[in-house]
Amino acid sequence: MTKQFMAANWKMFKTRQEAEETTRELLSLTATKLPGDREVLLIPPFTSIAAVVETIGSRTGFSVGAQNFYPAESGAYTGEISPGMLLDLGCSFALVGHSERRHLFHEGDDFLARKVSFGLEKGLKIILCIGETLNQRKEGLLETTLSRQLTSALSGISNLDIASRLSLAYEPVWAIGTGEVAGTEDIGEAHNFVRSELKNIFSRGAEEIPILYGGSVKPGNISEIIPLDNVDGVLVGGASLQAEGFSRIVLG
Ligand code: PGA
Repeated sequence: MTKQFMAANWKMFKTRQEAEETTRELLSLTATKLPGDREVLLIPPFTSIAAVVETIGSRTGFSVGAQNFYPAESGAYTGEISPGMLLDLGCSFALVGHSERRHLFHEGDDFLARKVSFGLEKGLKIILCIGETLNQRKEGLLETTLSRQLTSALSGISNLDIASRLSLAYEPVWAIGTGEVAGTEDIGEAHNFVRSELKNIFSRGAEEIPILYGGSVKPGNISEIIPLDNVDGVLVGGASLQAEGFSRIVLG
C-alpha cells in the first residue's frame, strides 16, 4: 500500500499551549476516520516538539518532525540543534532545504548536501525541499534548477538503507504562502521530472521515494492534487495552522 504523507509545517507559529491544543483537536477530528494509507506529519517549532510528541502519545498514523537542524553531533554552535537532540525528543524526521531556509537564511547547495547526509546518517528521516523561483520558471530553467538542487543535495548518498529514509517535497517558490497553487499540469510535470531524476541518481529504490507537493495547498484543492501520478502527499503551511481546515486536507 503506498502511503500519502500529509505534512503540516507550522513555521514560526504557535506557543506550546497552542500547539498542544491544535494537535488535540486534530486527533479528535481525525479519530477513527484516518485511512490506513495516510500518515500525518506534524512539524512544529522546536519549542513545541516535546509537547506535540506527548499529546500524540501512542496514536498511530501520526509522527513529529523538525523544521531544521545543524549537521554536527555537538559542539560550539550557539543557537543550533543536532539530529541526536531531535531524536531524543521523539522527533523522527526533519525538513532540509525549505525555500525559506534557502532564501531568508542563505543556505546553499553545499550546506544542504551536508545536512541531508548527516541527518540521514544519524537516523533522521529527511524531507528534502526543492523548487524553482518565478524567474527561473519564466526563463525556462525549471528542470535545470530542480536537477541542480537534487544532484547537489543527494550526490553523497549511496547507501540504499539510508536513501529509504528520504522523501522529497516539490514546492515552487512562487506558490508558497501566496495563495497561488500550481496547476495540476505543472505539478504533474514537475513530479514526473523529479521521479526521473531520482532514477538517474539512485540505481534502485527511486520509485519508493515519496514526493510531496507544497505551495498553497488548501481543503479546496487537495482532491485535485492527491490523485496525480507521482504525488505521494502534501506539505502544507498556512492551511495547516487550524486543526479544522487541516483535518479536511488530511481526510480529503
Ligand atoms: P503554504 O506553505 O502552504 O503556506 O504555501 C507551504 C510551505 O512553506 O511548506
